[in-house]
Amino acid sequence: ILIKGHAQNGFQANYDESKVPPYTLPDVLRTTGNVAVKSKAIWEKVRRPEIIKLFEENVYGQMPRSYGQLTYSIKNENAGAMGGKATLKEVLIEVVNNNKPVKINLVLFVPNKQKKPVPVFVLINNRGKNNTDPTRAEKSDFWPAEMVIDSGYAIAAFHVSDLAPDDTAKYVDGVLQLYPEQLTAKNGMRAIGAWAWGASRVLDYFEKDADIDAKKVVVVGHSRGGKASLWAAAEDQRFAICVTNCSGNTGAALSRRRFGETVGRINTVFPHWFTGHYKKFNNNEDSLPIDQHMLIAAIAPRPLYATNASKDLWADPKGTFLSLKNAEKVYALFGLKSNLNSDPPAINQPIINSQLGYHIREGEHNLTAFDWSNFIKFANAHLKK
Ligand code: GCU
Repeated sequence: ILIKGHAQNGFQANYDESKVPPYTLPDVLRTTGNVAVKSKAIWEKVRRPEIIKLFEENVYGQMPRSYGQLTYSIKNENAGAMGGKATLKEVLIEVVNNNKPVKINLVLFVPNKQKKPVPVFVLINNRGKNNTDPTRAEKSDFWPAEMVIDSGYAIAAFHVSDLAPDDTAKYVDGVLQLYPEQLTAKNGMRAIGAWAWGASRVLDYFEKDADIDAKKVVVVGHSRGGKASLWAAAEDQRFAICVTNCSGNTGAALSRRRFGETVGRINTVFPHWFTGHYKKFNNNEDSLPIDQHMLIAAIAPRPLYATNASKDLWADPKGTFLSLKNAEKVYALFGLKSNLNSDPPAINQPIINSQLGYHIREGEHNLTAFDWSNFIKFANAHLKK
């Protein structure tokens, strides 16, 4: 089967469940020193940092720990946006390091009716900038701002190109100018690391905005943006909830299943997304020291919501669900239950009341109003307790 829109470039994708090779996942609850992790304390002190390091070293690259300066200015503010329902703030966040600036343009709507501060959804926008039109002349289900405002949440978005253009050559024209040592390092961050880093800088801004409850930030990403939302939430424990929509390979799906997109294919077509070392695992998934269930686990105990779409086999829905299932035991260390059954739920049957939430939506690879309506339900269930 050739899924529309995904040229194979000589890579033959497998969509046959019976051809998924046998595999053994690395044990999320065993340290590299072969010690069984039986307590939350050992998880937090030893195993979680170890896992983050393995992902930095082998997949997403290092995350710069510091920067010289972060400033912001409100470029435009309109208290009568959306027919008076919301206040629009267009914020320019500027980070300087190595004498070079990176400028993040944040679009933010805050509901007027709600008592402040309010929780916020922030989208890592990997698609057209028109999806997050601040004038609302153009509206898109990719970022249904009115619906989110009506639910009592603030909604924000920034575009990935502000951090690292999504291009094999131009990705260096952004954050990487601030950290030139990352570019030469084999374990340096690349585009997806830069987008995740940007999400954290937006959170830095939220901490300074009195309208926003920075302890209740939901980071949302779709597909390549969903790979970044996972990495952002894993790296930065200030994010309260992670939403990863159709994130697929090197997102929420297990790499070892080699179902749909594979590590070799993603590294070949998108060489600018992940760290240099990741290429060692092309057609060599079994030697990865991690698999993606460990990225989910690194987000524990915080709530995480993952999605797939029924016609998006490229992103391996079953492999995504299995990632969540294999992370459950880490949530259990915190006494947190997931209400996922052993098999994925039926199409359009979201699992909301669970620390690990999930749905598979009818339809194509996309981020839709149906998806968002469930992110809101999930946030209601977890932030309003
Ligand atoms: C491609 C890519 C995926 C990615 C997707 C997207 O299909 O292979 O890894 O998730 O684009 O971002 O929409």
